[in-house]
Amino acid sequence: MPKTATRAGARHQINFDLNTWLDARSAATNTALDRFLPSEKTKPATIHKAMRYSIFAGGKRMRPALTLAAAEACGGTEADALPLACAVECIHTYSLIHDDLPAMDNDDFRRGKPTNHKVFGEGIAVLAGDALLTQAFEITSLAKGWPRYSHRDLVLEVAKASGSLQLIAGQVADLEGEGQKLSVAELRYIHERKTSALLCCAARLGGMSANCTPAQLQALTDFGYHVGLAFQVIDDILDVTQTSEQLGKTAGKDIAAQKATYPSIVGLEKSRKIAQQLTAKAFAALKPFKGRAAALEALAHYLLTRDK
Ligand code: IPE
Ligand code: IPE
Ligand code: MG
Ligand code: MG
Ligand code: MG
Repeated sequence: MPKTATRAGARHQINFDLNTWLDARSAATNTALDRFLPSEKTKPATIHKAMRYSIFAGGKRMRPALTLAAAEACGGTEADALPLACAVECIHTYSLIHDDLPAMDNDDFRRGKPTNHKVFGEGIAVLAGDALLTQAFEITSLAKGWPRYSHRDLVLEVAKASGSLQLIAGQVADLEGEGQKLSVAELRYIHERKTSALLCCAARLGGMSANCTPAQLQALTDFGYHVGLAFQVIDDILDVTQTSEQLGKTAGKDIAAQKATYPSIVGLEKSRKIAQQLTAKAFAALKPFKGRAAALEALAHYLLTRDK
């Protein structure tokens, strides 16, 4: 699927070569991650192999892309945003390693490969997740502070998005929701926390790395929230509509585990409509950037239409 986003019918058309943009940003993110993480040979080698196995297994790098695109929209540099982009990817990868554990979603495949615990065993997988979570804070501390955003603000941002009121809260409610008949509001509570919080954090950190204005930060918050929620609705849809090969993780697992998802509660068609509506709200949030947020617009479009 071409990742050149074109929004027909809009006042201005986005003609943005997202493929090329993403390739360059992913490469920069991977190089920086390689620099930040201890080498495979660093003792104890097992843990560093396990951390690197999941980090470099081939994720889409959407959260770092959001950080870098948000920084661009606010006139910042890639160099200033990269540590924060890497920190968010470390949190995300940790959350996937733990999400896949037998005690949670019990998944055997991730990013097209056997899951961390399948390769290294459950004990090391738990520790690799712990280590990536900790690594995220170390990397955050290496980012520059800015006049409007101190190190304290950056650390607080990462901690709040990943803590027991946000990402963890969502994962708890997701587990407790298995086999339950949840309302749409209860499902939204889960998705806001387990997924939207970190995507929102990714966008906000990009703005912060560019010393953005309070109005820009508010716009990025609205954007990240809606794009993040849409992201999980689409994830739920893809679990039903795609193959395991396409996704790089086992498809159809949500129904098997009796997960509360948008398709299971409102059906596929309504889920698609909701994802479209959320993406429209994300676009609307970018108005204050007056067309200078081309990469963010293209990303929102891609995230809605993605097939993996
Ligand atoms: C999967 O995230 C987990 C969710 C929050 C839905 P991604 O779809 O971004 O996974 P990777 O990083 O590409 O593997
Ligand atoms: C994962 O949600 C959310 C987090 C890891 C925080 P899912 O359980 O739906 O993600 P997948 O489908 O396994 O990637
Ligand atoms: Mg899960
Ligand atoms: Mg899962
Ligand atoms: Mg899922």
